[in-house]
Amino acid sequence: DVLKTSTDRILSDLEGLEGPLLPILHALQDEFGFVPQQAVPLIAERLNLGKAEVAGVISFYHDFRAAPAGRRVLRVCRAEACQSMGGNELAQRLQERLGIGWGETTPDGAVTLEPVYCLGLCACAPAVQVDGDLLGRADIDRIETILSEAAR
Ligand code: FES
Repeated sequence: DVLKTSTDRILSDLEGLEGPLLPILHALQDEFGFVPQQAVPLIAERLNLGKAEVAGVISFYHDFRAAPAGRRVLRVCRAEACQSMGGNELAQRLQERLGIGWGETTPDGAVTLEPVYCLGLCACAPAVQVDGDLLGRADIDRIETILSEAAR
C-alpha cells in the first residue's frame, strides 16, 4: 500500500542520518500532512526503538500531527509576549467558539486549532497564523471573518 511504500522509501533515505527520527517524522508529515499511526511500528522496527518511544516523540513535538488537518489550520501563539497581551483569553474564546481543544479539528473538517510558540510578531501581540498568513493584534472577530471568508 501507498503508506507502507512511502514510509519504506523515507526510512531508506533518512535512516542513515545521525538522529534520524525527527527528519523521518518531518518527511512523513510533509508527504501525508500528518504522521500516520500505521507508520509508527515501521519506524520503530527500522530504527530499533520502542513503538511507545516513537509515539511519545510525535506527541511531544507540537509540529507533528497524528491525524489529518482540517481545511484551514489556525495556530495561536502561546508564548509569553502574546499571553501577556490577551492571548490566553483569545485562545480560550476560540476554543469555546470552535468547540475544540488544541490539536483538534472541528467535526465538519473546517478548522484545526494548534498552539505555536512565538510567530516572531511579539510587537503585535497577540498573534495567530491562518494557514500561511500571519495576523498580529488578532481578535476573535477578525479571525472569524478570515475563517468564514476562506470557507466560501
Ligand atoms: Fe507571540 Fe512572539 S510571543 S509572536
